Amino acid sequence: KLPPLIAPSILSADLARLGEDVQRVLAAGADIVHFDVMDNHYVPNLTFGPTICEALRKYGIKAPIDVHLMVEPVDALAQLFCKAGADYVTFHPEATRHVDRSLQAIRDAGCKSGLVFNPATPLSYLDYVMDKVDMVLLMSVNPGFGGQSFLPSALTKLAQAREKIDAYTAATGREVRLEIDGGVKVDNIGEIAAAGADTFVAGSAIFNAKAYAGTIQAMRAAIAS
Ligand code: DX5
Ligand code: ZN
Repeated sequence: KLPPLIAPSILSADLARLGEDVQRVLAAGADIVHFDVMDNHYVPNLTFGPTICEALRKYGIKAPIDVHLMVEPVDALAQLFCKAGADYVTFHPEATRHVDRSLQAIRDAGCKSGLVFNPATPLSYLDYVMDKVDMVLLMSVNPGFGGQSFLPSALTKLAQAREKIDAYTAATGREVRLEIDGGVKVDNIGEIAAAGADTFVAGSAIFNAKAYAGTIQAMRAAIAS
């Protein structure tokens, strides 16, 4: 299994001091930066685009940036994020006409690619495109807002995704990350890890805590136990 990654969602960061706050959370032990892109169309909220991603790079942020696109259509923005310094670009399969093509285009632009599954979206999308996927992201809330509670149905789905990924890795030798997003806290991250996740998005749980390092350490301890 891949080493666990803690991915703070900057949706809950201090957006008026974004660069500083991202630096703080990385210094506190976070591994990658989860970057939630909302378009007021695919989801009923609006956040930030590729210029902000580029600004974080110019500010000196070196950690991997994990761009979660909640936008429709997908392709043009995905390309802009690859140019703006993203490492991972993930999108919702129902938000694009040609899932295979969108995945390939992200790879061609030099990024790692991934699919995001809403609570009711079936994992069967993976069956024909696993070769083009580096990250499977399961939503444990309906996308659009931080601070919602974890939907328990995500635990069953995580176990199912884990099985698919393990079978794929056993057959091909290629690793695929399994990320969980929504309502992840210190007190549920242990069972989320046990269900199979290896990459953990947490927005409000980290940024609303005063001591980022303490929260991240508590999360790592719960994952390891
Ligand atoms: C929701 C976003 C999440 C969100 C997580 O649409 O994809 O990344 O910010 O926030 P918390 O951890 O507060 O549920
Ligand atoms: Zn997200």
